[in-house]
Amino acid sequence: MSAESLRVGIVGCGGIARNHHVPSYLATGRARIVAACDVDRTAVEAVKALVDTIEYVHTDYGAFLREAEVDLLSISTSNEMHHPVAMAAMDRGLDLYCEKPMALTLAQAREMMAAAERAGVRTGVNFSHRRTPASLLVKEILDSGALGEIYHVSALYAAGSPAYADGPGTWRHDRNRAGFGGLGDMGSHMLDMVSWWLGSKVSRVAATMRTFVPERIDRATGRSMRVTTEDEGLVLVEFDSGALGHLCGSYTFTGRGYDQRAEIYGARGGLMYDQQHAHQLKVYLPEEALKAYTVTERGGTADNPYATILVPERLHGRLPGGSLPRRTVLMDFVDACLAEGPFAFEPGFREGLAVQEILEAIRMADETGRWVGLPRGQG
Ligand SMILES: NC(=O)c1ccc[n+]([C@@H]2O[C@H](COP(=O)([O-])OP(=O)(O)OC[C@H]3O[C@@H](n4cnc5c(N)ncnc54)[C@H](O)[C@@H]3O)[C@@H](O)[C@H]2O)c1
Repeated sequence: MSAESLRVGIVGCGGIARNHHVPSYLATGRARIVAACDVDRTAVEAVKALVDTIEYVHTDYGAFLREAEVDLLSISTSNEMHHPVAMAAMDRGLDLYCEKPMALTLAQAREMMAAAERAGVRTGVNFSHRRTPASLLVKEILDSGALGEIYHVSALYAAGSPAYADGPGTWRHDRNRAGFGGLGDMGSHMLDMVSWWLGSKVSRVAATMRTFVPERIDRATGRSMRVTTEDEGLVLVEFDSGALGHLCGSYTFTGRGYDQRAEIYGARGGLMYDQQHAHQLKVYLPEEALKAYTVTERGGTADNPYATILVPERLHGRLPGGSLPRRTVLMDFVDACLAEGPFAFEPGFREGLAVQEILEAIRMADETGRWVGLPRGQG
């Protein structure tokens, strides 16, 4: 551990805390996880078993935030607790790394943004897929302008368990605890990533959302529960830049596993991104632009016009050993917090709020059956 390190607390010790936050902090070597909190004591114990620096644990976040001596807090609870935990933590002046989606509602996200500005705390939001190597290459190619003016984006992120209809109900199926279902959970990543790739905000949306399985057996109680979040959301999108798109966030791709794909087409070229092939892209690029990359399949034929290129090593974010495949957004957040000079990092609450604005517009579009415009210059 370097002399210069952050004391970290974690509220919410479930799956993402154990599989992503803890290994990210451990891999930085610049953050010491000293405190953990979860209403479920077995979840706290599971985090404790991964970390030998924990000095303090609690099951009540109020007491935890009063007593734990930390600089930075990970908020990795179910969604309904992001806002209350963040607001209490900002009262204490803690820097925050919050899971996505940032809040249940746009009103909550706005309050969190305003509180962060008032308190002068540093924030990160875990739009983790921004560090997938192929996603970084999409960003590089778009920033280079090689595709010319962008006309079209299609993007989806879906989870597909083997027998989706039979799965248990969890907090993810309860609107009061999750805010949104497949669209907000999976689709929020794409709303963020596409806006980041394009460097353009969403200007208006039309949408439809559907709950295909209206009742499930609640995993916690064993009783039947009504499902109040969408299984899938489909969105038509217009961007400030003039580009058009369609996006899907869904839990319903039965048997498909995690399926995250995007296609982007511009005046001079196009690309196809597939997270399941995280170290390559299919591209159609001007010859000059193609020269910068290793081509494994030439393309250029009528039935296969797209070339396959490899993501350069410099974008792999490879880590020596450990349980993470690559550097994470959270690791970069820790480095940004410890860097000299003004804090410069995204995605933070500003980007989390921008996604929340789009989600709220999507909900309104679905409920009214109309296009809904987004406020400009916010988020
Ligand atoms: N960035 C990503 O790629 C990604 C992936 C998975 C989950 N997530 C997000 O991470 C968050 C957690 O998801 P998960 O899959 O780990 O869920 P999970 O159900 O495994 O864990 C959530 C934990 O929060 C705890 N919790 C609930 N209320 C609490 C409270 N009042 N105080 C303290 N702890 C409380 C629960 O007991 C549970 O242990 C969600 O916001 C989810 O959207 C993000």
